[in-house]
Amino acid sequence: MEKCIIVAIADNQAIGRRNQLLWNLPGDMKYFREQTTGHAVIMGWMTFQSIGRPLPRRHNIVISLFPWPEAPENVTVVKSLEEAYAAAESQEENPENAKCFVIGGAYTYAEAMETADTLYITHVHDKPEDADAFFPVIDPDRWQVETTSDLQTDPVTGITYEFTVYRRK
Ligand SMILES: NC(=O)c1ccc[n+]([C@@H]2O[C@H](COP(=O)([O-])OP(=O)(O)OC[C@H]3O[C@@H](n4cnc5c(N)ncnc54)[C@H](OP(=O)(O)O)[C@@H]3O)[C@@H](O)[C@H]2O)c1
Repeated sequence: MEKCIIVAIADNQAIGRRNQLLWNLPGDMKYFREQTTGHAVIMGWMTFQSIGRPLPRRHNIVISLFPWPEAPENVTVVKSLEEAYAAAESQEENPENAKCFVIGGAYTYAEAMETADTLYITHVHDKPEDADAFFPVIDPDRWQVETTSDLQTDPVTGITYEFTVYRRK
């Protein structure tokens, strides 16, 4: 199974504040939906709380160390990233050709960076000063750019961003 990470990152590596996203960029949300629909999505429980519901048309896998008396419908709760990957594979008819996506947050991304094959990064050209969640620096010695989109501009805020896919070297 191809292990992917998908995330929107500011120019100062910021990704979140007070368990919320930093931006509301409909173009980025559409990209996220297009990339992840039909695949397993793996997240830490803070991110699951922040989203507030299982994402439709995706196998939702939540990592949490404390027991959940009853997992919400359509959600698989596991205790480690390794278990999350195993749960994702277990629902695929053809695991070798399948993909799964780690969708956050900071804690979960930091661990997943060690084993991910592919990164779907939205580089948002902004430097929020009060963020409290960050993504690790993408080391160019370890990651090569596979594709980069044109520069996008959010029509409401004027914030610019682009979609870059990196593959592990
Ligand atoms: N910009 C973006 O694209 C993006 C995307 C997603 C999230 N975010 C932001 O990221 C922030 C949340 O990040 P976060 O780091 O606080 O939370 P998180 O990664 O969503 O969740 C962290 C928790 O998940 C559990 N966990 C994760 N991996 C585990 C593992 N391997 N083994 C055991 N437990 C594991 C732990 O829970 P226990 O307490 O049970 O140990 C840990 O405390 C928010 O601000 C959110 O908006 C941004």
